Amino acid sequence: MAIQKVGVVGCGLMGSGIAQVCAAAGFPTVVREVSAELVDKGRKGIEKNLNRLAEKGTITEAVKEEIRGRLKGTTSLEDVRNSDLIIEAIIEQLPAKRELFSALDKICPPSTIFASNTSSLTITEMATATKRPQRFVGLHFFNPVPVMKLVEVVRTIATDEAVYEEIVAFGAKLGKTAVRAKDSTGFIVNRLLVPYLLDAIRALEEGAGSIEDIDNSMRLGCGHPMGPLTLLDFVGLDTTYYISQIMFDEFKEKRFAAPPLLKRMVLAGWNGRKSGRGFYDYADPQKPRALKF
Ligand code: CAA
Repeated sequence: MAIQKVGVVGCGLMGSGIAQVCAAAGFPTVVREVSAELVDKGRKGIEKNLNRLAEKGTITEAVKEEIRGRLKGTTSLEDVRNSDLIIEAIIEQLPAKRELFSALDKICPPSTIFASNTSSLTITEMATATKRPQRFVGLHFFNPVPVMKLVEVVRTIATDEAVYEEIVAFGAKLGKTAVRAKDSTGFIVNRLLVPYLLDAIRALEEGAGSIEDIDNSMRLGCGHPMGPLTLLDFVGLDTTYYISQIMFDEFKEKRFAAPPLLKRMVLAGWNGRKSGRGFYDYADPQKPRALKF
């Protein structure tokens, strides 16, 4: 049975982006948040993105209205129960995710496929909160979701082959390149990206170069769209710290260990762009100013 209707649980930065691309690809999409304020906040973010696309002429006003018409916000979990696929994008905490999937398992028909957008938690551990581990996958998007062309489609040892192929095909329908990954902590991207980002912090700690010089080196020397310290501020230092702890716990390898400076910045609340300060100061968001350590 092909996927026709999509439910997204969580309408933060990732959830709203996922809902937007699903609706843009033609899927009627219901997105659920815990409060009307959060539904409204997510919706406003999507509206802003769609307006920007229409102003640039990437989509017509008519297409924009069609996409808006396919999106429905709700605070009720019941409203997503008739979706063929439910994508979870809530807080990165295993107990919260297990609780959500257990509740969904009870109200959804047995045919519904469940997917998690987690970046580093173990999919198998979420699937076992349900009675349908064979219909459970990881679907890991990248920030900003409407722009980044990749989605990692993750299978566990219990995922049914036909379900997996259906989700790979769904990823392609969203206009993404769907890569196949196993349920190995960090999947493919974070297994490679996280040690690189942590190494950039170690390079700074060891005085290999200044913040700007480290960023310019990778941006201009290797053609990356952002240098590693800018990317860390963009992803969030708290998020990266959290992912590194999970990966270190799994692999016990030094390359996944958080450098002391990262820990101290997180303790100080310097979480990057979203908190106004990370490796750069964002008092003027148009002109980030590199800090000195
Ligand atoms: N939402 C929607 N569209 C956005 C956007 C957003 N938040 N930010 C930028 N865009 C769009 C712009 O409208 C613009 O579109 P057009 O080309 O059609 O005009 C395009 O993206 C480029 O934007 P800008 O010109 O403003 O700026 P840029 O060229 O510097 O691109 C960027 C911005 C796309 C974020 C780019 O810098 C980039 O690719 N950075 C790296 C991002 C990255 O690595 N993301 C993955 C992080 S890891 C992760 O998400 C997973 C994890 O588990 C931690």
